[in-house]
This record gives sequence, C-alpha cells and structure tokens, in this order.
Amino acid sequence: MSTEHVLPDSNTVMYGVFGDPVRHSKSPVMMNAAFREMGINAAYAAFQVAPAQLAAAVNAVRALKFGGVNVTIPHKVAIMNYLDEIDDSAQTAGAVNTVVNRDGRLIGFNTDGIGYVRSLLAETNAGLELHSKTILLIGAGGAARGVAFALAHERPKRIIIANRTREKAAQLAAEVGRIAPCDGIGLTDLADINRVDIAINTTSVGMSPHVDDLPADPALFCGPGSIVSDLVYNPLETKWLRAAKELGAVQHFGLGMFIYQGACALEHWTGRQAPVDTMRAAVVRSLA
Ligand code: ATR
Repeated sequence: MSTEHVLPDSNTVMYGVFGDPVRHSKSPVMMNAAFREMGINAAYAAFQVAPAQLAAAVNAVRALKFGGVNVTIPHKVAIMNYLDEIDDSAQTAGAVNTVVNRDGRLIGFNTDGIGYVRSLLAETNAGLELHSKTILLIGAGGAARGVAFALAHERPKRIIIANRTREKAAQLAAEVGRIAPCDGIGLTDLADINRVDIAINTTSVGMSPHVDDLPADPALFCGPGSIVSDLVYNPLETKWLRAAKELGAVQHFGLGMFIYQGACALEHWTGRQAPVDTMRAAVVRSLA
C-alpha cells in the first residue's frame, strides 16, 4: 500500500457523499482506502445535506472544484435538476448516484445497476453468463429499476419482476421488455412460476432491525445450484440468503453491489481500475 498522501494537504482534491441521513455511510472508509491504495491525493467525506440545501451543495461542488460526489437517499432523483448532463445510465434508472466534475461540467451517472451486474458476475460461479438464464426480481421500486435494466442489457433468457403491488411490476416489466423478455407478476403469483436460475431481493424486507422477515419463500422457485441474491447488506446474511443456503443454492451477498457501485464511480472519477479487494477489506473491517 502506498503511504503517500495519507493526510490531506494543499493539493488534495475533495470527493464525498451527499445524503440525509448519511452518518452510517461506509463510502468514506471504502473510498479513502481506494485513494490511498491508488496513490491519489484525494479525500472523501460524508456530507449531511438537507433537501432544501441540495442546490447550494451542488454549487459547492463547482466552487470548491470537487472531483465528484456520490448521492444517496433522498437526493438521487432531485439532483438531476442541478447537473449539466445526465448519462444514459442515470436516464434509464431515473436516478443519479454518482456525479463527475469534468472541468467544471457536472455529469450524473448511475452505477448501481452496472455495479450489481459486475458483482454478480465476479462473486458467484466463475464463468457465469446470463444469456441462458431466467432471473426473478422481487420488488419494483427504484433499486429494482436500476438492476433490471442493467440485467436486461446482458440479454438474459427472461426476467420476471414480482412485486407486492402487481401494477408496478407490470409497468416496470413493460419498460424493461423493450430490451429483454420480461414479465410482471404479483407476489401471490410466485407459487405458479417454474424454477428460476437467479432470484434477487431488491426490496428492503429483511433489513435490520426486521431481520426475521422474508420477501418471499425461495423454496417456491429455487433449488440446488440456483443463485439467490440480496441487495440488503445489513445484516450481511439475511434470512432470505440463509433460507437459500438451506436449499443448496449459491448465495450472492448485498455487500458486493455496494462495493462495485463504488468501484464503478471511482473508475468514472479517475479513469483507472478500482482496487476492489482493498475497498471490500476496508468496508468489512469497519463492519466488524
Ligand atoms: P427502493 O428505491 O429501495 O427500491 P422503493 O422505490 O420505495 O425503494 O421500493 C421499495 C420496494 O420494496 C417496492 O417494490 C415495495 O413494494 P410496493 O411497490 O408494493 O410498495 C417493496 N416492499 C417494501 N416493503 C415491502 C414489504 N413489507 N413486503 C413486500 N414488498 C415490500
């Protein structure tokens, strides 16, 4: 590990995350570890930005020549009003999680979906290819949207979106269906579907403190060899992932999406490959 630039000095370029609340964020630990490993003189902090202050905060990015920022709840949609350009990734997701300051021009990206796909490919079966796969998404909210479009671009055999509110599943499925075969169903229809290759929980069901909740019963559509994935990473092993393991399925943990969305953001900012292992180790250390 490089020991250069451990402390900020007069050449340090600032980065950060805007959110409200934001004090729980693991992004500063992850990004500062990455900058250190890469030998880049940059520092990353968490900024609690109230919704009424978002425009001023974006202007601060310009005025203080930040290299970029991440954006989290509740600013992911509202920030689109204040940027100079919205990349296709953010346009389709309908939300921005990464802003790049390119010589004073602020460009909004969304790395959640592509980060999810990278993590799925890197962290499950070696050589996994999605072309022949049937993929089930539980949930049809903002997180599902980003993941569904990123998966659709990998040309899977079929995507099924199952949501408590069936209408929302049908609506999202109609949009994603322009890219890859996609159906929208209600959670109560899950008993009727055949086995799927990959099942992904995109809802917050099972997140701490509600650790005994299950978004659906994976025994309905998963078995040995299926991949079962959760976007929730607090706790690291949710009840959904534990149930999957009992069925002999391969677990894919939510922490991976967090790491890889950060890796993709860092790559937009620096044009260099992100040190994913260092980033993961820093986050895991901070969770221990
Ligand atoms: P996010 O941006 O995190 O996806 P969201 O846009 O509010 O948040 O979407 C939350 C998703 O989780 C929705 O699909 C929601 O289902 P509804 O559309 O029916 O509201 C789903 N969800 C949240 N709590 C749930 C619960 N207790 N049981 C089932 N689904 C739930």
